[in-house]
This record gives sequence, C-alpha cells and structure tokens, in this order.
Amino acid sequence: MSASYLEAITVRRSNYALTNKSSVSDEKLQDIIKHAVKHCPSPFNSQASRVVLVTGATHIKLWETVTATLLPMMPEGEIKTRYAGLLDLHKGGYGSVMFFEDQAILDEIIQQRPFVATQFPDWNKNAAGILHATIWTAFSLEGLAATLQHPPLTAEMIAGLNLGFDVPSTWKSTAILPFGDPAAPPKDKTFLPVEDRFKVVKS
Ligand SMILES: Cc1cc2nc3c(=O)[nH]c(=O)nc-3n(C[C@H](O)[C@H](O)[C@H](O)COP(=O)(O)O)c2cc1C
Repeated sequence: MSASYLEAITVRRSNYALTNKSSVSDEKLQDIIKHAVKHCPSPFNSQASRVVLVTGATHIKLWETVTATLLPMMPEGEIKTRYAGLLDLHKGGYGSVMFFEDQAILDEIIQQRPFVATQFPDWNKNAAGILHATIWTAFSLEGLAATLQHPPLTAEMIAGLNLGFDVPSTWKSTAILPFGDPAAPPKDKTFLPVEDRFKVVKS
C-alpha cells in the first residue's frame, strides 16, 4: 500500500522550467488544494494554515511585487542577476499557491496553553511544511512543474503579500509555490548516502 505514496514522494521535484500553461484545470487545482488543506495535520488540530491560489494577471502581479521588493535589497552582482532570472521564471508560470499561517489562531492557542509557548511556533512550522509538501507532491503527480519559494519577510514584503492580495493582516506568509506545465524536466539531484542519515537501534 505504501509503495504508491513513496513513489509520489520521488516524483516531487524542484522544477524551475515553468510555462504559463496548465494542463490541469483550475477546478482540479482547487480540489487538490482544498483536500490538502482539510486533511493535513496540525498541532492541537489548530488548522491555522491558509492558502490563496493566484493565476493569470494576479500571479504576474504577485511576482512583480516580490521582484520590486527583493531586488532593491540586493547588492549589484552575480547573485542579484541570478535571482532576477529566477524571479522571471516564477513569473512565467501559470499560477502560484500562496501559503500563510493565521497568527491570530496561533496566539490564541499559546494564550490557552502558555506551557507550549516556546515550542509551538516550531511545531506549527512543521505543519506548514507538511501542507507545502503535500500540495507540491500532488501537483507533481498531475505532471506540473513547481518550486517552493521563500521570499525574505521584510515589513515591506509582508505588506506587499497581504495588502496587495486582499489577505488578512493576521495571515503570515510561509511560502509560495509557483507552478505551470513543465518546459523541461527537473535537473539531476545528488544524494548523500542514506546509511549516514538513518540508523536502527535494536534492543
Ligand atoms: C523547507 C524548504 C525550503 C526551500 N526553500 C526554497 C527557496 O526559497 N527557493 C528555492 O528555489 N528552493 C527552495 N527549496 C527547494 C530545495 O532547494 C530543494 O527541495 C532541494 O534542493 C532538493 O531538490 P528537489 O526539490 O528537486 O528534491 C526549499 C525546500 C524546502 C524543503
């Protein structure tokens, strides 16, 4: 039973080569996202994750907003040129999934359970990551190319991502997944020996 799930994990890759087309219908994309949002786990079942799907002109506006905020922060040079190229690739996709966590729910949980105040934010980041990986994997299984992006969350970036897209101010951006039909396969990936990363301790 687990084989197809493990195969799905293998299919998910970072693929920056996006086209502005999607062979997956908007309705199907929405169904995938709603299913993942509903079923992915969260600490104390807080269900604080929020998702916004943007396509077309709104997707382009998103990447223009990120570009206009990020590039002026960077010194001129090779890294800035590379980032500019990558941002253009994201903008060239069909759409983006914007991920948020509702800070108001997280604050309420910490207020109710002050004894978890230190660890809860980390647990919640884990929950956000589970949702990112689930939607990324499901999109990959549908044949879409996608990458997971984390623009630096300066005050200006936060304002751009919230105000510009009618997102409540308590929603905190956790990642953006630009996607589209692939223009090329993903690049090869290297792996450390799994034996160095996993051990069994027997009694
Ligand atoms: C939590 C997390 C954060 C990441 N952030 C970024 C990012 O901001 N920009 C980016 O281009 N890739 C990002 N990546 C993609 C990784 O670089 C990529 O997953 C890794 O190189 C392995 O390649 P693969 O996704 O093809 O398996 C992130 C991946 C993870 C799991």
